[in-house]
Amino acid sequence: MIIREMKIEDYEEVYKMWQITTKRALSKADEKPQMERYLKHNCGMSQVAVIDGKIVGTVLAGHDGRRGFIHHMAVAPEYRRRRIGHALAETAIKKIGEQGIDKTHIFCYQNNETGQSFWRDFGFKKRDDVFVYSFDNDKL
Ligand SMILES: CC(C)(COP(=O)(O)OP(=O)(O)OC[C@H]1O[C@@H](n2cnc3c(N)ncnc32)[C@H](O)[C@@H]1OP(=O)(O)O)[C@@H](O)C(=O)NCCC(=O)NCCS
Repeated sequence: MIIREMKIEDYEEVYKMWQITTKRALSKADEKPQMERYLKHNCGMSQVAVIDGKIVGTVLAGHDGRRGFIHHMAVAPEYRRRRIGHALAETAIKKIGEQGIDKTHIFCYQNNETGQSFWRDFGFKKRDDVFVYSFDNDKL
């Protein structure tokens, strides 16, 4: 297995995998132009895991100048429980750390028990003191 930077050329293959692994988290922000902007904005930070030329895992990593954020941490079902997710998350966090950012946040659906178990196992601490509030910018 190799872990390498995700490029916009990977988009179609990655998006196909996300439709299996991450479907409910997909939104307009995951369309190709938006993903191209994201990858440019967070240059070199997002990663894919590749086995025999096939993308089997992804992690989007970026920061806002203050905190790091990971999105779309995903491994294709037939490749799970082999520490691929851990390897991807570790690379993403190192990339965020290299930018001088000292904390990384993730969002996880409350009923995603696999996701929660994964992040706990990795060492992430669940926050009980914050809610996520969101606003659609076109409502202004
Ligand atoms: C979460 C996900 C990325 C984990 O990838 P992975 O490569 O299987 O994870 P790893 O092998 O690196 O980590 C395994 C550890 O995570 C935890 N874990 C992973 N899957 C688990 C599951 N189905 N049930 C319970 N614990 C699980 C365990 O602690 C496990 O250690 P173990 O195998 O020794 O028991 C993968 O299951 C996935 O793509 N899920 C769908 C997308 C998703 O929910 N992403 C997270 C969004 S917040």
